[in-house]
Amino acid sequence: MKICVLPGDGIGPEIMAEAVRVLKALDLKLDMEEALLGGCAIDAAKDPFPEATQKLAKEADAVLLGAVGGPQWDNNPRELRPERGLLRIRKDLGLFANLRPAILYPELANASTLKPEVVAGLDILIVRELTGDIYFGQPRGVEVREVDGLKQRYGFNTMHYTESEIRRIVRVAFDAARKRHRKVCSVDKMNVLECTQLWRDVATETAKEYPDVELSHMLVDNAAMQLVKNPKQFDVMVTGNMFGDILSDEASMLTGSIGMLPSASLDANNKGLYEPSHGSAPDIAGKGVANPLATILSAAMMLRYTFGNEAAAQRIEVAVKKVLAQGLRTGDIYEPGTTRVGTREMGDAVLAAL
Ligand code: IPM
Ligand code: MG
Repeated sequence: MKICVLPGDGIGPEIMAEAVRVLKALDLKLDMEEALLGGCAIDAAKDPFPEATQKLAKEADAVLLGAVGGPQWDNNPRELRPERGLLRIRKDLGLFANLRPAILYPELANASTLKPEVVAGLDILIVRELTGDIYFGQPRGVEVREVDGLKQRYGFNTMHYTESEIRRIVRVAFDAARKRHRKVCSVDKMNVLECTQLWRDVATETAKEYPDVELSHMLVDNAAMQLVKNPKQFDVMVTGNMFGDILSDEASMLTGSIGMLPSASLDANNKGLYEPSHGSAPDIAGKGVANPLATILSAAMMLRYTFGNEAAAQRIEVAVKKVLAQGLRTGDIYEPGTTRVGTREMGDAVLAAL
C-alpha cells in the first residue's frame, strides 16, 4: 500500500506529522513517501505540481494532503499559485468524486453558531463533482474587447457538463446513500442555466437505477438557505464543482468546527486523495496549535475507501471520539471547561487512545 504524502503549506506539515504518526502506529505495512505540492513546490521547483510529485502521485495507491496556499503566493501569475497545483492533481488523477461529510460530534454541539436543536446529530454528506464545470471550462480568460460600443476588459468563463460526467457523479451519490439513509438531494440552477437543466434531467434518469433511494431536486439558492434553516432534512447532497465548493463550506460551518472535517476525492477505481476540508491557516502556521484531527480523520477515510480496511478506519475514528470525550480541545474547538492542547499533544492523545 503506497501512499504519497503531501504536507503542503502553512499548518500542513504540522498536522500531517500527526496523521503520519497515527498511520504508523497501526502496523499496516504502509509505504509512505513525501513530495511537494503548492507554495512549497513553487519555491523549490517553480511549479506548484512538479514532475517528481506527479510521478509519485500516479504510482501511489492514495495521496494524503495537508493543505496548500498562503499570502506570499497570492499575487503570482495564475499558473504559479498553490491552488493551481491542487486543481491539476485533481484533474491529472481523474479525481472526479469529492466526498465532504459534515458531521456534528455530540461533544462539540456548542461549537456551532446555530441553535443546538437545529444541528444536534447532524450528518450530511456532500458529493461534489470535482473535475468539470466552470472550474475547467474553455473558453476562459480576460481580454480587451469592444462591447457595448466601448473597448474594455471582458472576463469570461464557461460552465459545461457532459451527461456521462453527470451520471457518474450522481451514481457515486446514490451508492453512498445506500450505505446511509437512502436520500439524495440533487442541487442545480435549472431555472436559469441550461447546463444544470441537463444535470437535473440526468439525475432523474439515473435515479431509475436506484428505486430504493429517494431523489429530490433543489435550486442552489434555496439549498443554501435550507442548509441553515433545517440542515437535518438532508442525507446526501450531490452537485457540480462550483456549487459544491460553496455549499460544502457552508455545510462544514454548521458543525462550527471545520478543523474536524476530512474529505476524500476519488477516481473511478477508488484511488483517492484525502485532505482536511480546512485550508493552510497561515496565521497560525508554525505555532503548534492547529487541529490535526481533520487530517487524522482523512487518513481514516483513506483506509476505508482506498484500502477497504474498515476496521482500521474505525479504530482511528473511535480514538478521535475518545479524545473528544476526554475533553481535549485545540484552540479552534476550545470552550471553557475543556482542556486546551496543541497539535502534538492532540496527536499524542489519539495515539494513546488507539
Ligand atoms: C476547495 C478549495 C479549492 C476549490 C481551491 C483552493 C482551489 O476551495 O477545495 O474547496 O475551490 O476547489
Ligand atoms: Mg472551497
